[in-house]
Amino acid sequence: MNKLVKNSLPAQPRLTAKFFAERRKELFSRLPDKSVCIVVASPERTRNNDTEHPFRQSSDVLYLSGFPEPESALVLTKFGKRQRVIMFVRPRERKAETWTGKRFGVEGALAKFGAHEAHLTDEFATVIEDLLDRAEHVYYRLGLNEEFDSQFISLLKKNQKTLLNPCRLIHDMRRIKSQPELDVMGYAASVSARAHAEAMRKVRPGMYEYQLQTVVESVFGYAGAVEVAYPSIVAGGNNANILHYTTNREVLKDGDLVLLDAGCEFSGYASDITRTFPVNGKFTAEQRAIYELVLKAQLAAIKACKPGRTANQVHQICSDVLRRGLVELGILPEEMANKRVAERLVNEAEKEKRDDKIAHLERFFMHKTGHWLGLDVHDPAGCDDSRDQPLVPGMVLTVEPGLYLPKYDRLVPPQYRGIGVRIEDDVLITEGGCLVLSAGVPKTVDEIEVLMAEGRSSGKDPAAVL
Ligand code: GLY
Ligand code: MN
Ligand code: MN
Repeated sequence: MNKLVKNSLPAQPRLTAKFFAERRKELFSRLPDKSVCIVVASPERTRNNDTEHPFRQSSDVLYLSGFPEPESALVLTKFGKRQRVIMFVRPRERKAETWTGKRFGVEGALAKFGAHEAHLTDEFATVIEDLLDRAEHVYYRLGLNEEFDSQFISLLKKNQKTLLNPCRLIHDMRRIKSQPELDVMGYAASVSARAHAEAMRKVRPGMYEYQLQTVVESVFGYAGAVEVAYPSIVAGGNNANILHYTTNREVLKDGDLVLLDAGCEFSGYASDITRTFPVNGKFTAEQRAIYELVLKAQLAAIKACKPGRTANQVHQICSDVLRRGLVELGILPEEMANKRVAERLVNEAEKEKRDDKIAHLERFFMHKTGHWLGLDVHDPAGCDDSRDQPLVPGMVLTVEPGLYLPKYDRLVPPQYRGIGVRIEDDVLITEGGCLVLSAGVPKTVDEIEVLMAEGRSSGKDPAAVL
């Protein structure tokens, strides 16, 4: 590993066999007697001709075992006191391993992944048929892997059982992070924070969006986080008004902002950070006004993140700050300052199908203030109303208000057109409130401008190596 990175980042945390055994023990405790719970690997997908997309294991398989290979399945069976972990894996094969890398095989599944029993994947139907005969509760989620689905559906035709969705149980567990998961997520967030700071130092007018992407992702890789948690968004100027802009092919222009939404994945866990900063190192007055409003809303939302509050309440607090601020800037009409009046006006406009003709908050802030974060960047909630459930220590969520004022939106005053700002941090709920895992990257206008000026004072053209 790069010496500089090693010196300044904490040691890379590891998830151990004990951690995965604890996850399975917890799942066993939630399963009723006489149950079979089957969790299948993600499928491999062709990119083109004979080339595959990089394989990413299903987050549920990762959560319960850390097993990284495709064409595999993990099965937990509970019959009375007998609780068994059965794995299905690809065979060891000299030829295949010569081309695409080492496999764990049946022996590895038994020795390294805590399986009591391991079989080749070809034996899936035979082994499962016998288990289905005896089970009263069968957990299997259809729609994740066509190969396993077709075998499983054939078995169900022979042996009628009511299917239960294992994700309810597993995702409920995933919502509250244990300490080893928090160590890994803290590391991922600190690497991403570092990468954002590096992007602020290195960005220059005339650079391409994809070049800035490379700066960010190279920091991830040097720190051992070799995957991105989602495709990086590097959106110069008006591109920031496309929420998930990933084309990243345009030139970053003098006088524009760049919205950078990028996070690494480490040990399967995501980080998700957005910063918006001026390509030339200095905010204009209008950019600053919008930026500081988003920051004010984000800080109010972070302050509101504490046990007992709900994600929807945090969203309301954040939205109120934005709505009032937009009125002050003259972007929303005066009457929108009153929340009730604003709601009534928007409802009326929606009914009359003219809501796209009036300036209202949701036109400029059309997403929620955040989402759960974990193995998936948009981590599952476990229940449908999770946004109305009280926050509890161990939950991790993003706080990411934004304002999007497109260049061609006539309801935006001309001086603000083309500005898009989002500020996003990863927040852990603690007993006393919350902890910002991604705090290591500048956020105020002054902090950003100072860091960017430092990056420029080195005098080095970041593209010089090319
Ligand atoms: N990076 C995707 C999101 O912020 O939700
Ligand atoms: Mn996010
Ligand atoms: Mn994001």
